[in-house]
Amino acid sequence: MSTAALRFKQAIAKQLSSLTQCSEPLLLDLIRVPKKSRDGQFTLSLPQLGAALRQQSNNSNSSTPNAVQDPTAWSKEIASKFIPDQMIADATAQGPTLQFRVANTEFMKQVLTHVYNEHSTYGWAHAPQHNQTVVIDYSSPNIAKPFHAGHLRSTILGNFAKRIHEIMGYRVVGVNYLGDWGKQYGLLAVGFERYGDQDKLMHDPIHHLYEVYVRINQEAKHDPTVDQQANAYFKRMEQGDTDALALWRRLRDMSIESYKSIYGRLGVSFEVYSGESQVESYIPKVNALLREKGLVETTQDGASAIDLEQYSLGKAIVQRADGTSLYLTRDLACLMMRQELYGFDKALYVVGSEQQGYFRQVFKLGEMLFGFKNLQHVSFGRIQGMSTRQGTAVFLEDILNTAQEQILQYMEKEKSHVKDRQEMTTVSDQLGISAILVQDMKSKRNKDYSFSWERMTDAKGDTGVFLQYAHARACGIERNADAAVIPTPDFGLLKEPEALDLAQLISQFPEMVESSFNSLEPCTIVNYLFKLSHATSAATQVLWVKGQEPELAAARMLLFWAARTTLFNGLSLLGIKPIERM
Ligand code: ARG
Repeated sequence: MSTAALRFKQAIAKQLSSLTQCSEPLLLDLIRVPKKSRDGQFTLSLPQLGAALRQQSNNSNSSTPNAVQDPTAWSKEIASKFIPDQMIADATAQGPTLQFRVANTEFMKQVLTHVYNEHSTYGWAHAPQHNQTVVIDYSSPNIAKPFHAGHLRSTILGNFAKRIHEIMGYRVVGVNYLGDWGKQYGLLAVGFERYGDQDKLMHDPIHHLYEVYVRINQEAKHDPTVDQQANAYFKRMEQGDTDALALWRRLRDMSIESYKSIYGRLGVSFEVYSGESQVESYIPKVNALLREKGLVETTQDGASAIDLEQYSLGKAIVQRADGTSLYLTRDLACLMMRQELYGFDKALYVVGSEQQGYFRQVFKLGEMLFGFKNLQHVSFGRIQGMSTRQGTAVFLEDILNTAQEQILQYMEKEKSHVKDRQEMTTVSDQLGISAILVQDMKSKRNKDYSFSWERMTDAKGDTGVFLQYAHARACGIERNADAAVIPTPDFGLLKEPEALDLAQLISQFPEMVESSFNSLEPCTIVNYLFKLSHATSAATQVLWVKGQEPELAAARMLLFWAARTTLFNGLSLLGIKPIERM
């Protein structure tokens, strides 16, 4: 089984292998899709092919064909010998490059039939299934500190990583590893003992805990004993103090409840709400293992450290002088726990790039202690300038509300098709979320970007709103035309260049999904969807469905349906809920 695009490449490779003495797999690797469709649908660079053949012959001590010396002549020669067949209409030489044009009708038939048959699995129906378990650690905010832009990115990118692993046949265990333990939490608890207010806590835990956090941190700035109290508090917790643990459980449960409603709004969920507090019983095991391996040394001030200098990873502290654990100790304990609970084949940590050095230490120690090799830090850059109109602190809920309001205003101004108030609320919320998500996923993850309300909600720019608009518009064609989607229209009627461009883009989707999976870069899919949306919109200008002869309407209908289905699948994979009208 193969994708439609691959079948056409195979048809080219097959003929070319006898014309060039080159193996089909090598040719398949080198056949490209040109940027502009006036250059055909596929191209092959002969200098590149020559280089590959030279490489091959160096490895096997055989000779390369003479033609390699003059790629331009070679390209002409191949073009003249190429015999058009059912799939490939012609081959032309353009300097040292060969350009291939597909047989239009056959191409339409293959591409659209694939989409029709695979429908909601189009894009990954042919992907290899991994049948393995992956643990994905994402979002992971700290209950003792505010949710920040980095947590938002982790939530978005982690959710994407989860979805794309699922379609690739992984059993995914999505874990929210809360920062709900440690000295930081001790500080919040000390603050809560002073400034905590039960009513405010019940009413709005996230904002109230933030208030407490701000006050106690200010105090800690002038009063060094606050820090000592935080340490002492945490020590009590690690020793099992009932009162301290009761408060901790309450704050934790309430925080989780409020996070859940916001995650729900974003369409994000977790298999497990875990956290640094959940690994306590594994810490002694980790410490024992470290000692057994003779890795631990005691520092001047009585802490336990591991020397990782030989790997250029500095020194890693695993225990404080007072016997308490650290972030690193808990991550190591957590690895042990996850292996025991889930038996994972690989584990991903979706966390900002500022923790890169830290994760290098975790992974090195994970390898030294447990032999894990499949640990990956899915890192990302910062968001600059993210704030709501109310102030500079980032509350996820405020961000989503601001986005929604802005869209609502826009919908009112632009006379939206949606009139029902209820539907308008839902649609504006989904559009706001799409805008945030797409802005976050449109560039490579490690790039920093600056948050911009104007840019991200611009319906005409490359934004989430634009993608939704393209989807809704394609849905509109289906609603308004009186033609049904049938699998076997007369494919020969789809002759216009706009139709071919669109089908060509549709055919590329499976490759985009695969490449995005390998790099865990959602921008591959986002940018592809921008192109697909532009091509769809160009096609809607010229390829009318409504009021056309039934045969023509049916052919065009299937084309738009396939574009819409591809857009739908792509958006869903990104964690965006496609909108049918707006
Ligand atoms: N809570 C941490 C933070 O906000 C992120 C946790 C990431 N996951 C992990 N296993 N260390 O920085």
